[in-house]
Amino acid sequence: MSQVEEHQGTRRDFLYYATAAAGVVVTGAAVWPLVNQMNPSADVLALASIRVDVSAVSPGTQLTVLWQGKPVFIRARTEAEIAAANDVEMSQLPDRLSQNANLPDDADASDQNRALSEDGVWLVQMGICTHLGCVPLGQAGDFNGWFCPCHGSHYDTAGRIRRGPAPRNLDIPVASFVDETTIQLG
Ligand code: FES
Repeated sequence: MSQVEEHQGTRRDFLYYATAAAGVVVTGAAVWPLVNQMNPSADVLALASIRVDVSAVSPGTQLTVLWQGKPVFIRARTEAEIAAANDVEMSQLPDRLSQNANLPDDADASDQNRALSEDGVWLVQMGICTHLGCVPLGQAGDFNGWFCPCHGSHYDTAGRIRRGPAPRNLDIPVASFVDETTIQLG
């Protein structure tokens, strides 16, 4: 098999695993160590960056992909979700830092600093609860953002912790748009 063919095989494997991960997320309170057993092989884990086609993700829907063995939530937010996130005062946030790897460490947790796109639509974050690592459920909880059923952490529509034991907002990985419909992670 040529090197090119081997690479394509890796990509197919990745897509398979990404689909499997999405299934796990949908079923709910999957503890991350269980998901971890389904990790892709070492060669896939080694991919420092991946490109994700988001052309099929419309406002109000979310795509979950595996990147470096971890779930990443890519959500196109609705106007209402963006408005709700913008409506929050910094004083209401337990964690006032953006936790955004694309910004300086001291950047605040405003919605602008959480969203990937200037219009606020795109939100890309690690799908791992910052308490003990469960995979939160989408569009659930007291703030209609994400809810971690393991110990009851509620995140808002910007992925910021609002209630419960999680100490930090959901982490935002290095991410960027490489064209209108493709997001690069890493
Ligand atoms: S792991 Fe999410 S609340 Fe404990």
